[in-house]
Amino acid sequence: MTFNNKPNDELVSENLNAAIFKAFKKDCTGFRLEPGNLMKALGLIQSEESFSLEEFFTWPIDLLADYIEKKHHSYIEQRVPVLLDMLNKLCRLHGDDHTELLDIYRGFCKVASELNSHLLKEELILFPYIRKMVQLANEGSSLDDPRFRSVKYHVLQMMREHELDVDDFKQIRNLTSDYCPPKDACKTYKVAFALLNEFEKELHLHIFLESAILFPKAIAFESNINRI
Ligand SMILES: [Fe+2]
Ligand SMILES: [Fe+2]
Repeated sequence: MTFNNKPNDELVSENLNAAIFKAFKKDCTGFRLEPGNLMKALGLIQSEESFSLEEFFTWPIDLLADYIEKKHHSYIEQRVPVLLDMLNKLCRLHGDDHTELLDIYRGFCKVASELNSHLLKEELILFPYIRKMVQLANEGSSLDDPRFRSVKYHVLQMMREHELDVDDFKQIRNLTSDYCPPKDACKTYKVAFALLNEFEKELHLHIFLESAILFPKAIAFESNINRI
């Protein structure tokens, strides 16, 4: 679909930025999100989330952090061991005939390791701080934790890691020919590729909720409260 000669992904990108501007009254184009990934995330919100994009924008940041951790972090924690096991099995059974399986397995091991440390940083440092900011603001107290540099400092690090994960998964997608199993693929092969496809989509949605909604809102929240 095009409108005014603009491709669809450009329109989505513009609309999203307009929505962010409306929600936060500031331009968030600095939070770089690739249009193609935005399309995937927005499509998933419509098809797989119980809540609309507009609702996510209205949620308090502590609720959104809880939701992301319970739903999207849990998904990764459950799926990673299943996929590692399946890919390992595929390498042993079919690695000689399909040598790309070894690179897919290595690529997924890398993403799994990166995500493991990424989720820990969010769950042990950033998300607890977001909850603490909200709690102290509700109590009318000031922030007094000198060890925590700033939300923005941690967010920028998390966003760099998001970009790395997206790039690494792009390589996995290329190696699997867009998750298309070969003609001689067994059932495990097909299921593994379907799960990798699902994992990538889920990752885009997860990253979208953080990079486009939670993180800009958390930075704006921090700038409006008192720090000692
Ligand atoms: Fe996360
Ligand atoms: Fe994240």
